[in-house]
Amino acid sequence: MSRYAGHVQIVTTAHDGERRGVTITAACSVSDSPAMVLACVNASNSKNAIFEKSGHFALNALAADQIHLANAFSGRDPAMTPQERFALGDWQELATGAPVLKNALAAFDCRLVEYKVMATHMVLIGEVMGVSFGDHRPALIYKDRGYHTL
Ligand SMILES: Cc1cc2nc3c(=O)[nH]c(=O)nc-3n(C[C@H](O)[C@H](O)[C@H](O)COP(=O)(O)O)c2cc1C
Repeated sequence: MSRYAGHVQIVTTAHDGERRGVTITAACSVSDSPAMVLACVNASNSKNAIFEKSGHFALNALAADQIHLANAFSGRDPAMTPQERFALGDWQELATGAPVLKNALAAFDCRLVEYKVMATHMVLIGEVMGVSFGDHRPALIYKDRGYHTL
């Protein structure tokens, strides 16, 4: 998988006053009518249970100038609290209440329509209820265990 070039995204949700965001590359489009996307997050991390509980998620596709967000939401500094991680970005809510990154290249606000644990990961399938776009600029890609720009 290190040879696979993936767009770096942050999948987010919120439930009972708690927000959660995880840096991922395992995400893609599923269908266009209705618009659906999927994201895969590690099921062995108990903090990810919130994605099922909340019933919604947002997929925020990062731009090259947002490496600091990718690092923060990948737990690189384990001492950082969720509040500190979210404080690094500017967030809004669209239709579902999931945190949507205002200046993401593109952000998809989704209601969870299917949830399935597949071996180590949970697959979240969402119907897109809202979309937002930041400025059009280079994307943040992960390949060969490092960040790249496209
Ligand atoms: C470039 C990159 C891609 C990642 N892709 C995924 C992914 O697709 N799914 C996943 O569950 N974790 C992925 N991770 C790891 C998670 O970001 C990390 O385990 C998680 O954010 C740890 O969060 P925590 O410290 O809040 O538990 C990726 C990390 C990086 C740096």
